[in-house]
Amino acid sequence: MVQSITIRRPDDMHLHLRDDAVLRTVLPYSARQFGRAIVMPNLKPPVTTVSAGRAYRERILEALPRGTSFEPLMTCYLCDNTDPAEIRTGFEERVFTAVKLYPAGATTHSEYGVTAIDRVANVLDVMQGLGMPLLIHGESTDPGVDVFDREAAFIDCTLAPLLEKFPALKVVLEHITTEQAADFVYADTSGRLAATITPQHLLFNRNAMFTGGLRPHYYCLPVLKREQHRLALRRVATSGSRSFFLGTDSAPHERGAKEAACGCAGIFSAPTALEAYLTVFDQEHALDHFEAFASENGRLFYGLPPNEGTVTLTRERNEAPRKVALGDGKSIETFMGDGELPWRLVDHPNV
Ligand code: DOR
Ligand code: ZN
Repeated sequence: MVQSITIRRPDDMHLHLRDDAVLRTVLPYSARQFGRAIVMPNLKPPVTTVSAGRAYRERILEALPRGTSFEPLMTCYLCDNTDPAEIRTGFEERVFTAVKLYPAGATTHSEYGVTAIDRVANVLDVMQGLGMPLLIHGESTDPGVDVFDREAAFIDCTLAPLLEKFPALKVVLEHITTEQAADFVYADTSGRLAATITPQHLLFNRNAMFTGGLRPHYYCLPVLKREQHRLALRRVATSGSRSFFLGTDSAPHERGAKEAACGCAGIFSAPTALEAYLTVFDQEHALDHFEAFASENGRLFYGLPPNEGTVTLTRERNEAPRKVALGDGKSIETFMGDGELPWRLVDHPNV
């Protein structure tokens, strides 16, 4: 049995860092593992301009523990009225790496999102020309569509036509949760379509939300699906296909905001993310594909150089805490903290 594994320092290609005190609390957990992260723009108000993207990047760099190297890769929140010139400037001035498309109303802080793809066609045209990736929260917002079918409906009704209309646009279907998404991305061998997969969608099916009662800390969007879908995600993630890569979607919410009558969607996985993914690859006897998923496929899709340095994980009880304190008696619940995982990241002097 393999007792230890060393891989090139990985990247998190989908991360929510928030701002202020939460940013300062959660950032060290990501920076400890990852060389870079694609940072989501769904702040309040969202990051919609080059100057807001630059300022947010500065706040993240200031919040980094001293001596830590970590590169936040910023994204711009796409709105119906986004000016294509703003996107071009942001990309050319190396402030924005990508643009995030939230269908309006699909998830947390998506109220400024896109109401119809046709409204942003001029922006997508510019991005296609620049080779700038579009990152999509792929869920239908049609209230008539069952919550568990929203990803599949989005693929049929919105994504497939979009890919046809913009044949050279680079697209990441974020945090995929279904067999339909896994098959759709796997079947596209053009290299311009990829998907991120979260640790929770690889480790749990929807039963986790209802085990012995309602479990808000397993609630995220897109919501966990039935077992058949989890198995499909595990197949493609561990297959060695270049089209799938690590994106935690770590999304911290203060405990009270989740344990509420109308609880927030989002799972805070940053403290245990890499160990959780490794557990999946270990269970699937696919340790030889772990490094590609964590450290290569994503950065190749984005055209980034490999990270310097390595990380090592050993087969021993994971000591991440069950919750992380925010002050004032507030805290954030950690995904699979408290020794639930059999792998542990060896702390290392940051590169
Ligand atoms: O569960 C989620 N939480 N899904 C999202 O799309 C947004 C995220 C958040 O920002 O909390
Ligand atoms: Zn997200």
